[in-house]
Amino acid sequence: MSNNSAGNWLLSQNKFANKIGKKLSGKAITVSVTSGKGGVGKTSISIKIAKLLSEKGLKVLVIDCDYNLSNTFIKLNLPIKDDFNLLISGAKTFEECIYQEGNFHLLAACSGDLDLFDRDIHLDQFILNLLIQIEDRYDFIILDSPAGINKQAMTINAYSDYRFVVVTPDKSSITDSYSLIKILNKKYGVKENHLIVNKISSEAQYKRIVQIMSETVENFLASRLKIMGGITRNNRAIDIFDRELFDQSKDLHNDFCNIISRFTEESLGYCDDRHYTNLNYGCVDDLKHEVLN
Ligand SMILES: Nc1ncnc2c1ncn2[C@@H]1O[C@H](COP(=O)(O)OP(=O)(O)O)[C@@H](O)[C@H]1O
Ligand SMILES: [Mg+2]
Repeated sequence: MSNNSAGNWLLSQNKFANKIGKKLSGKAITVSVTSGKGGVGKTSISIKIAKLLSEKGLKVLVIDCDYNLSNTFIKLNLPIKDDFNLLISGAKTFEECIYQEGNFHLLAACSGDLDLFDRDIHLDQFILNLLIQIEDRYDFIILDSPAGINKQAMTINAYSDYRFVVVTPDKSSITDSYSLIKILNKKYGVKENHLIVNKISSEAQYKRIVQIMSETVENFLASRLKIMGGITRNNRAIDIFDRELFDQSKDLHNDFCNIISRFTEESLGYCDDRHYTNLNYGCVDDLKHEVLN
């Protein structure tokens, strides 16, 4: 199948429709963590969410789709294992290439690999073929997307059951995410996305962003944006953030727990340890109610 035809075939098969309840079929629920802009927190969020789901006893795989600028191993403070090229060439199997820690599995990618740079990679085709082979082995597969709105990344986003669009209060992040949602909607017929607002400084700022994003998406794209919650900006030194991300005693951890509670409630139909804060609104109506009263 040629690169272009991967997207076309999926469109013809109506594979881009949301598949809520897919878990019942024994297949993994796929989640793309995406954004238009880089540096908004996709990799941090992908790994933390995967860790939290795996701690609930669910079997989770993270696939680093930023295939030659991989950061996942660095975030986890692990020695780099860049077998992605060997997996693509067929020299190693999937099992040989993944890092495993209990229920948490990770397929990292490469970092500036020269051979990989020279190859004509059809990432979307490769990832979709891989998903088809392994989706019955996992409960969740989290796809950590690269930045930007290239066709291959968009095809992977559109194929996923859920898209967690990550924005920060930066105006360019909001604009870029809107562009991403627009392309997904106009080119792939995607009608629903989930929003995570990262690096927020105040509740008022969070509410403002949720309102702007929700109203713009709903009014101009006839597309629905479900609000997953917000993550507070951690003002400690940049190198401390990665450590605090996995520290369960920090406020940061609670922000993620709220997002996970909301997500498991929606995707699996159960919810535990819910401790919603003001940074969590389920839908625009909740938010409007809050703003108007
Ligand atoms: N809530 C947050 N508070 C402070 N720094 C953050 C937060 N989320 C992410 N970061 C930092 O932002 C930078 C980019 O994060 P990363 O997860 O690599 O983003 P992306 O994958 O979107 O490029 C990293 O230095 C990370 O530590
Ligand atoms: Mg990243």
